[in-house]
Amino acid sequence: MQIAILGGTGPQGRGLAARFARDGHQVSVGSRKADRAAQVAEELNDRLPSGITVGAGTNLDVVTDADLTIIAVPFDGQAALLADLVDALAGQVVVNCVNPLGFDKQGPHGIEVPEGSAAEQAASILDRSTVVAGFHHLAASVLLDDGPVHDETVMVCGDDADAKATVIGLCGAVAKRGGVDAGPLRNARYLEPLTAVLISINKAYKAHSGIAISGL
Ligand SMILES: NC(=O)c1ccc[n+]([C@@H]2O[C@H](COP(=O)([O-])OP(=O)(O)OC[C@H]3O[C@@H](n4cnc5c(N)ncnc54)[C@H](OP(=O)(O)O)[C@@H]3O)[C@@H](O)[C@H]2O)c1
Repeated sequence: MQIAILGGTGPQGRGLAARFARDGHQVSVGSRKADRAAQVAEELNDRLPSGITVGAGTNLDVVTDADLTIIAVPFDGQAALLADLVDALAGQVVVNCVNPLGFDKQGPHGIEVPEGSAAEQAASILDRSTVVAGFHHLAASVLLDDGPVHDETVMVCGDDADAKATVIGLCGAVAKRGGVDAGPLRNARYLEPLTAVLISINKAYKAHSGIAISGL
């Protein structure tokens, strides 16, 4: 697939880009600044096996030819960015991995989102795209470490069965247990703040924890 990553210059976008490129997809990292995207792509390409490269461009450039786009920007930048890309993303499957979190002296916590979740906010803006939620609990450091994927499951939420199946089909590239259907898009409101728990576990155990679903 041709995969575009909005905010592909950040750790999460870079990690997903590297894993999907290694899995045989054509991946482009997007940025608000074309030269920053180009620099990040060059750094990734230096690390990827010979013959595998990722492309780069502005966020608008990279979504234009994509089959599927992943949103990997901070929650507070999502709404304005997507409002500018409504037409460009029309007809596409758009995957949201955004975790709206706040931090206080007790650590990370989920913040209230009027639409219910970052994914539902994205769906409310991108009224001609099919929004799916997934990849929330994959640590960027693990995606970027060039080793084998970890023993994790990706929980994928969405209201369109075909779009959800498409995203589940990608998950083997980033998690050993692949993806599972985790219900409708509104379930993203439970997945996103769960990341606060994983970050707390990471802090307590100095680890990169993930989620593996058993019993399937
Ligand atoms: N880091 C993780 O381990 C992890 C794991 C799971 C999910 N996530 C989620 O994935 C998303 C990205 O995480 P990250 O750690 O990679 O974040 P990040 O480094 O803070 O941001 C990623 C990229 O987003 C762009 N960006 C920043 N502010 C923006 C704004 N106001 N408007 C538009 N673009 C903006 C920047 O790219 P340019 O300056 O190049 O435009 C930046 O490089 C977050 O929503 C996070 O919750 C992260």
